[in-house]
Amino acid sequence: MKFGIVASAAALVFAFASVASAQDAAPAGNAQTGQKIFLSDGCWECHGSVGQGGAVTGPRLAATALPYAAFVQQLRVPQNAMPPYETTILSDADAANIYAFLKSLPAAQAAKDIPLLNN
Ligand code: HEC
Repeated sequence: MKFGIVASAAALVFAFASVASAQDAAPAGNAQTGQKIFLSDGCWECHGSVGQGGAVTGPRLAATALPYAAFVQQLRVPQNAMPPYETTILSDADAANIYAFLKSLPAAQAAKDIPLLNN
């Protein structure tokens, strides 16, 4: 039992370490192609056409802070309600294109920087 806990803690540390190192290895993608796939493959239906997210359908993705490995992991084996996108449906190259598209979008503004909210 005790060993099991130690082993799973070690596995967790390893998983985080490999995610962190894979972050540097995000393959180059084409943002324009990524946008096309984001719209044709239905990502937009839950995440909004510019990745702005929806109240209940899916979180904001614009300027995602997720490392590339975590992004791909979510596509292949989603955490919860999102449908899986296996390599037969969405190639690794197209995953990289979508990632490039999301990274090219502006990050959310802080409320204090939105004039209409500060009148
Ligand atoms: C049917 C709705 C739906 C569709 C279609 C969908 N998603 Fe999601 N997505 C979600 C939901 C809900 C979550 C929250 C986590 C979960 O349920 O797995 C999520 C989470 C994510 C996350 C993690 C965000 C974070 O910051 O943790 C990424 C990245 C993502 N989706 C990318 C995509 C991409 C790219 C596509 C298209 C290939 C897509 N999603 C299609 C609903 C959807």
